[in-house]
Amino acid sequence: MNKRENSFSVLLDDKTIVVHTSNHERTAEEVFAGIAHEIRNPLTAIRGFIQLLKPDLIEIGKAKYVDILMEEIDRTNGLISEYLGCVKPSPKPRKIVSVQKLIADFSFLFESEAIIRNVKFSVNFPNEEIHIKANETQIRQVLFNLVRNAFEAIEEKGFSDGEVKVEISTDPQFACMTVYDNGIGMDEVTSQKMSKTFFTTKENGTGIGLSISRKIIEEHGGRIEVKSQSGVGTSAAIFLPLKEEKDNSQN
Ligand SMILES: Nc1ncnc2c1ncn2[C@@H]1O[C@H](COP(=O)(O)OP(=O)(O)OP(=O)(O)O)[C@@H](O)[C@H]1O
Ligand SMILES: [Mg+2]
Repeated sequence: MNKRENSFSVLLDDKTIVVHTSNHERTAEEVFAGIAHEIRNPLTAIRGFIQLLKPDLIEIGKAKYVDILMEEIDRTNGLISEYLGCVKPSPKPRKIVSVQKLIADFSFLFESEAIIRNVKFSVNFPNEEIHIKANETQIRQVLFNLVRNAFEAIEEKGFSDGEVKVEISTDPQFACMTVYDNGIGMDEVTSQKMSKTFFTTKENGTGIGLSISRKIIEEHGGRIEVKSQSGVGTSAAIFLPLKEEKDNSQN
Protein backbone atom coordinates (compact mmCIF):
# COMPACT_ATOMS: atom_id res chain seq x y z
CA MET A 1 0.00 0.00 0.00
CA ASN A 2 1.27 3.46 -0.84
CA LYS A 3 -0.04 6.32 1.27
CA ARG A 4 1.83 9.15 -0.37
CA GLU A 5 4.31 8.66 -3.12
CA ASN A 6 7.85 7.98 -1.88
CA SER A 7 6.90 8.63 1.70
CA PHE A 8 5.15 5.65 3.25
CA SER A 9 4.48 2.12 2.15
CA VAL A 10 3.69 -1.07 3.96
CA LEU A 11 4.48 -4.64 2.99
CA LEU A 12 2.29 -7.24 4.61
CA ASP A 13 2.49 -10.97 4.75
CA ASP A 14 1.12 -13.31 7.43
CA LYS A 15 3.80 -12.49 9.98
CA THR A 16 5.63 -9.33 9.04
CA ILE A 17 4.73 -5.71 8.68
CA VAL A 18 7.58 -3.66 7.29
CA VAL A 19 7.15 0.06 6.84
CA HIS A 20 9.22 1.91 4.23
CA THR A 21 9.52 5.62 4.76
CA SER A 22 11.39 7.91 2.39
CA ASN A 23 14.77 7.20 3.95
CA HIS A 24 14.40 4.19 6.21
CA GLU A 25 12.91 0.78 6.46
CA ARG A 26 11.35 0.36 9.88
CA THR A 27 9.25 -2.38 11.43
CA ALA A 28 5.66 -1.52 12.30
CA GLU A 29 6.61 -1.93 15.95
CA GLU A 30 9.16 0.88 15.65
CA VAL A 31 6.70 3.12 13.82
CA PHE A 32 3.92 2.53 16.38
CA ALA A 33 6.34 3.05 19.26
CA GLY A 34 7.32 6.39 17.72
CA ILE A 35 3.70 7.43 17.25
CA ALA A 36 2.83 6.36 20.80
CA HIS A 37 5.67 8.46 22.15
CA GLU A 38 4.61 11.53 20.18
CA ILE A 39 0.95 11.21 21.19
CA ARG A 40 1.57 10.56 24.85
CA ASN A 41 3.58 13.74 25.36
CA PRO A 42 0.83 16.21 24.41
CA LEU A 43 -1.75 14.00 26.16
CA THR A 44 0.16 14.33 29.41
CA ALA A 45 0.21 18.11 28.98
CA ILE A 46 -3.54 18.22 28.21
CA ARG A 47 -4.26 16.06 31.26
CA GLY A 48 -2.26 18.42 33.45
CA PHE A 49 -4.09 21.51 32.20
CA ILE A 50 -7.49 19.88 32.71
CA GLN A 51 -6.49 19.14 36.28
CA LEU A 52 -5.55 22.80 36.72
CA LEU A 53 -8.92 23.87 35.27
CA LYS A 54 -10.88 21.37 37.35
CA PRO A 55 -11.81 23.71 40.25
CA ASP A 56 -13.16 26.33 37.80
CA LEU A 57 -15.15 23.74 35.85
CA ILE A 58 -16.61 22.29 39.07
CA GLU A 59 -17.63 25.79 40.08
CA ILE A 60 -19.70 26.23 36.91
CA GLY A 61 -21.29 22.79 37.31
CA LYS A 62 -19.22 20.97 34.67
CA ALA A 63 -17.57 18.41 36.95
CA LYS A 64 -18.90 15.54 34.81
CA TYR A 65 -17.09 16.89 31.76
CA VAL A 66 -13.81 16.83 33.69
CA ASP A 67 -14.35 13.18 34.58
CA ILE A 68 -15.15 12.29 30.98
CA LEU A 69 -12.11 14.16 29.66
CA MET A 70 -9.82 12.40 32.14
CA GLU A 71 -11.33 9.01 31.36
CA GLU A 72 -10.95 9.59 27.64
CA ILE A 73 -7.34 10.65 27.96
CA ASP A 74 -6.57 7.61 30.11
CA ARG A 75 -8.44 5.40 27.64
CA THR A 76 -6.43 6.87 24.75
CA ASN A 77 -3.23 6.08 26.59
CA GLY A 78 -4.53 2.58 27.18
CA LEU A 79 -5.42 2.23 23.50
CA ILE A 80 -1.94 3.22 22.43
CA SER A 81 -0.64 0.41 24.61
CA GLU A 82 -3.23 -1.91 23.08
CA TYR A 83 -2.09 -1.09 19.55
CA LEU A 84 1.47 -1.69 20.57
CA GLY A 85 0.33 -4.89 22.22
CA CYS A 86 -1.16 -6.07 18.94
CA VAL A 87 2.25 -5.83 17.32
CA LYS A 88 4.12 -7.21 20.28
CA PRO A 89 1.78 -9.67 22.00
CA SER A 90 1.50 -9.62 25.78
CA PRO A 91 -1.04 -11.43 27.98
CA LYS A 92 -4.34 -9.56 28.38
CA PRO A 93 -6.07 -10.47 31.63
CA ARG A 94 -9.71 -11.51 31.28
CA LYS A 95 -12.41 -11.50 33.90
CA ILE A 96 -16.12 -12.12 34.11
CA VAL A 97 -17.92 -9.07 32.77
CA SER A 98 -21.59 -8.17 32.62
CA VAL A 99 -22.30 -7.05 29.05
CA GLN A 100 -25.02 -4.67 30.25
CA LYS A 101 -22.66 -3.04 32.72
CA LEU A 102 -19.86 -2.80 30.20
CA ILE A 103 -22.06 -0.95 27.74
CA ALA A 104 -23.91 1.16 30.30
CA ASP A 105 -20.55 2.37 31.65
CA PHE A 106 -19.58 4.07 28.46
CA SER A 107 -22.73 4.57 26.38
CA PHE A 108 -22.87 8.08 27.86
CA LEU A 109 -19.95 8.93 25.57
CA PHE A 110 -21.81 7.75 22.50
CA GLU A 111 -24.91 9.62 23.62
CA SER A 112 -22.88 12.83 23.85
CA GLU A 113 -21.30 12.23 20.46
CA ALA A 114 -24.73 11.47 18.96
CA ILE A 115 -26.06 14.80 20.24
CA ILE A 116 -23.10 16.65 18.74
CA ARG A 117 -23.57 14.83 15.43
CA ASN A 118 -27.37 15.17 15.51
CA VAL A 119 -27.80 11.40 15.23
CA LYS A 120 -30.40 9.29 17.07
CA PHE A 121 -28.66 6.81 19.37
CA SER A 122 -30.19 3.97 21.39
CA VAL A 123 -29.14 0.86 23.28
CA ASN A 124 -31.45 -2.14 23.81
CA PHE A 125 -30.75 -4.67 26.58
CA PRO A 126 -32.51 -7.87 27.49
CA ASN A 127 -33.66 -7.95 31.15
CA GLU A 128 -31.61 -10.99 32.02
CA GLU A 129 -27.98 -10.20 32.81
CA ILE A 130 -25.44 -11.57 30.28
CA HIS A 131 -21.91 -12.52 31.33
CA ILE A 132 -18.82 -13.09 29.24
CA LYS A 133 -15.21 -13.72 30.15
CA ALA A 134 -13.24 -11.00 28.46
CA ASN A 135 -10.69 -8.27 28.61
CA GLU A 136 -12.95 -5.29 29.22
CA THR A 137 -10.63 -2.69 27.68
CA GLN A 138 -10.33 -4.66 24.47
CA ILE A 139 -14.08 -5.21 24.11
CA ARG A 140 -14.70 -1.51 24.70
CA GLN A 141 -12.11 -0.78 22.05
CA VAL A 142 -13.99 -2.98 19.57
CA LEU A 143 -17.34 -1.35 20.37
CA PHE A 144 -15.79 2.08 20.01
CA ASN A 145 -14.47 1.14 16.58
CA LEU A 146 -17.85 -0.19 15.43
CA VAL A 147 -19.88 2.72 16.79
CA ARG A 148 -17.40 5.22 15.38
CA ASN A 149 -17.65 3.56 11.96
CA ALA A 150 -21.44 3.82 12.25
CA PHE A 151 -21.32 7.56 13.04
CA GLU A 152 -18.82 8.14 10.23
CA ALA A 153 -21.00 6.20 7.75
CA ILE A 154 -23.95 8.47 8.58
CA GLU A 155 -21.78 11.56 8.24
CA GLU A 156 -20.58 10.33 4.85
CA LYS A 157 -24.15 9.79 3.68
CA GLY A 158 -24.79 13.38 4.69
CA PHE A 159 -28.45 13.20 5.63
CA SER A 160 -30.32 14.36 8.69
CA ASP A 161 -32.15 11.19 9.85
CA GLY A 162 -29.11 9.30 10.99
CA GLU A 163 -29.65 6.54 13.52
CA VAL A 164 -27.27 4.25 15.39
CA LYS A 165 -28.65 1.37 17.46
CA VAL A 166 -26.77 -1.02 19.71
CA GLU A 167 -28.66 -4.23 20.47
CA ILE A 168 -27.65 -6.88 22.97
CA SER A 169 -28.96 -10.42 22.63
CA THR A 170 -27.95 -14.04 23.26
CA ASP A 171 -28.18 -17.38 21.57
CA PRO A 172 -27.39 -20.65 23.39
CA GLN A 173 -23.63 -20.15 23.09
CA PHE A 174 -22.91 -16.52 22.41
CA ALA A 175 -23.55 -13.02 23.66
CA CYS A 176 -24.24 -10.80 20.69
CA MET A 177 -23.71 -7.03 20.49
CA THR A 178 -24.89 -5.56 17.21
CA VAL A 179 -24.29 -2.01 16.02
CA TYR A 180 -26.78 -0.88 13.35
CA ASP A 181 -26.53 2.28 11.28
CA ASN A 182 -28.48 3.73 8.38
CA GLY A 183 -25.38 5.32 6.88
CA ILE A 184 -23.73 5.10 3.50
CA GLY A 185 -23.31 1.30 3.53
CA MET A 186 -20.66 -0.63 1.62
CA ASP A 187 -20.38 -1.77 -1.96
CA GLU A 188 -19.18 -5.30 -2.69
CA VAL A 189 -15.49 -4.41 -3.05
CA THR A 190 -15.46 -2.54 0.26
CA SER A 191 -17.30 -5.40 2.01
CA GLN A 192 -14.65 -7.83 0.82
CA LYS A 193 -11.71 -5.66 1.82
CA MET A 194 -13.00 -3.91 4.97
CA SER A 195 -11.11 -6.11 7.46
CA LYS A 196 -7.75 -5.93 5.71
CA THR A 197 -5.19 -3.98 7.73
CA PHE A 198 -4.81 -0.44 6.37
CA PHE A 199 -7.80 -0.73 3.99
CA THR A 200 -9.81 2.47 4.21
CA THR A 201 -12.17 4.46 1.99
CA LYS A 202 -11.92 7.52 4.25
CA GLU A 203 -9.70 10.49 3.65
CA ASN A 204 -8.53 10.50 7.26
CA GLY A 205 -9.00 6.80 8.00
CA THR A 206 -6.16 4.48 8.94
CA GLY A 207 -7.96 1.24 8.08
CA ILE A 208 -6.93 -0.33 11.36
CA GLY A 209 -10.22 -0.30 13.30
CA LEU A 210 -11.92 -3.37 11.89
CA SER A 211 -8.81 -5.50 11.50
CA ILE A 212 -7.83 -4.97 15.13
CA SER A 213 -11.42 -5.52 16.26
CA ARG A 214 -11.65 -8.80 14.38
CA LYS A 215 -8.33 -9.96 15.83
CA ILE A 216 -9.43 -9.13 19.38
CA ILE A 217 -12.79 -10.89 19.03
CA GLU A 218 -11.25 -13.97 17.43
CA GLU A 219 -8.69 -14.14 20.24
CA HIS A 220 -11.68 -14.24 22.61
CA GLY A 221 -13.10 -17.25 20.73
CA GLY A 222 -15.75 -15.17 19.00
CA ARG A 223 -16.45 -13.68 15.58
CA ILE A 224 -17.62 -10.46 13.92
CA GLU A 225 -20.31 -10.56 11.22
CA VAL A 226 -20.83 -7.49 9.09
CA LYS A 227 -23.82 -7.11 6.75
CA SER A 228 -24.14 -4.07 4.59
CA GLN A 229 -26.16 -2.63 1.74
CA SER A 230 -24.79 0.24 -0.25
CA GLY A 231 -26.79 3.42 0.39
CA VAL A 232 -28.97 1.73 3.03
CA GLY A 233 -26.83 0.90 6.05
CA THR A 234 -24.72 -1.60 7.92
CA SER A 235 -24.95 -3.97 10.85
CA ALA A 236 -21.83 -5.17 12.63
CA ALA A 237 -22.39 -7.98 15.14
CA ILE A 238 -19.89 -9.16 17.72
CA PHE A 239 -20.40 -12.72 18.97
CA LEU A 240 -18.57 -13.63 22.17
CA PRO A 241 -18.79 -16.97 24.01
CA LEU A 242 -21.10 -16.80 27.01
CA LYS A 243 -19.55 -17.38 30.41
CA GLU A 244 -20.65 -20.87 31.41
CA GLU A 245 -22.52 -21.06 34.75
CA LYS A 246 -20.32 -23.88 36.08
CA ASP A 247 -17.09 -22.05 35.20
CA ASN A 248 -16.40 -19.97 38.29
CA SER A 249 -12.77 -19.14 37.59
CA GLN A 250 -11.90 -15.50 37.03
CA ASN A 251 -8.98 -16.21 34.71
N1 LIG B 1 -20.54 1.05 9.39
C1 LIG B 1 -19.93 1.18 8.21
N2 LIG B 1 -20.58 1.71 7.14
C2 LIG B 1 -19.96 1.86 5.94
N3 LIG B 1 -18.69 1.48 5.71
C3 LIG B 1 -17.98 0.95 6.72
C4 LIG B 1 -18.56 0.75 8.02
N4 LIG B 1 -17.62 0.18 8.80
C5 LIG B 1 -16.52 0.03 8.05
N5 LIG B 1 -16.72 0.49 6.80
C6 LIG B 1 -15.76 0.46 5.68
O1 LIG B 1 -14.66 -0.35 6.02
C7 LIG B 1 -13.45 0.41 5.95
C8 LIG B 1 -12.49 -0.08 7.01
O2 LIG B 1 -13.00 0.24 8.32
P1 LIG B 1 -11.99 0.43 9.53
O3 LIG B 1 -12.79 0.77 10.72
O4 LIG B 1 -11.10 -0.75 9.58
O5 LIG B 1 -11.08 1.63 9.07
P2 LIG B 1 -11.45 3.18 8.97
O6 LIG B 1 -12.72 3.46 9.70
O7 LIG B 1 -11.40 3.55 7.54
O8 LIG B 1 -10.23 3.83 9.73
P3 LIG B 1 -9.91 3.71 11.31
O9 LIG B 1 -8.65 2.92 11.41
O10 LIG B 1 -9.76 5.12 11.74
O11 LIG B 1 -11.05 2.99 11.97
C9 LIG B 1 -13.89 1.85 6.10
O12 LIG B 1 -12.96 2.74 5.53
C10 LIG B 1 -15.22 1.85 5.36
O13 LIG B 1 -15.04 1.91 3.97
MG1 LIG C 1 -13.01 2.76 11.67
